[in-house]
Amino acid sequence: MKFSDDLLIALLRAKRIVVFTGAGMSAESGIPTFRDTQSGLWEQYDPYVMASPKGYLADKALVWGWYEWRRMQVLHAKPHAGHIAIADLSGHVERLTLITQNVDDLHERAGSKNVIHLHGSLHQPRCFDCGSPYTFFDEIPDEPSGDQRKEPPICVNCNGSIRPGVVWFGESIQDTDWNFAEQAAMECDLLFSIGTSSLVWPAAQLPERAVLHGARVIQINPGPTALDNKAHYNFRGKAGEVLPAMLEALSTFLNSF
Ligand code: OAD
Repeated sequence: MKFSDDLLIALLRAKRIVVFTGAGMSAESGIPTFRDTQSGLWEQYDPYVMASPKGYLADKALVWGWYEWRRMQVLHAKPHAGHIAIADLSGHVERLTLITQNVDDLHERAGSKNVIHLHGSLHQPRCFDCGSPYTFFDEIPDEPSGDQRKEPPICVNCNGSIRPGVVWFGESIQDTDWNFAEQAAMECDLLFSIGTSSLVWPAAQLPERAVLHGARVIQINPGPTALDNKAHYNFRGKAGEVLPAMLEALSTFLNSF
């Protein structure tokens, strides 16, 4: 894969980089995306049943069991070379802000710090009624069980039901997370948009905020997206392949002086 000198120079000059990721970032770790045909979660499950307060209240065991199945998949998964490349890049930049729509912890397990999870996290459940955080004490079963029904745990503070710590349809992103993410997008010199269909708002606005404020936008995605005509660089490839190759090209470019 070829990386132009002007891209490599923009990368070297960038003092503030935002990396914005979506489900495609976790695909090579074996975690299903949402909208890829056949394999996407929303191809197989109705999001309004599985990922909404109404759906949870209608059938807590179905929804909790499904999120536990997703959490087990993540616990059995490993970060790939693309996650590691992002963690490495942050060591060479004045400020790298990592903003993800993903609810897994693969970025953290690759070494990235202060990750902003715009859509929450599978690893931070809380009480549906009083909001108290809940800590998992389970050991990891051998295989992620199929998406079976599972009654959610009960809150020790109010006897309410524990829910996944993710942002559901009909709910909004935490103001603090959004304000911080939007500010970072407006102040950055360079924004990577990796593995997202750029369809879900307000998250999908971040790359456009960056373009409006003069940043260069680099997109990495094997397929076409709604960002294609706004990104300055479009790499039609997988995150786990393009990112390490880009870092490799950067170090070769640096050593050529
Ligand atoms: P989508 O499933 O909508 O899009 C995944 C994107 O990743 C697609 O554009 C794929 O082409 C791309 N992709 C697949 N494999 C890839 C790879 N190996 N490397 C790079 N890209 C790859 O997922 P998101 O855009 O993340 O919302 O969806 C955004 C939100 O919609 C999610 O956060 C979730 C969902 O409903 C909430 O949970 C609130």
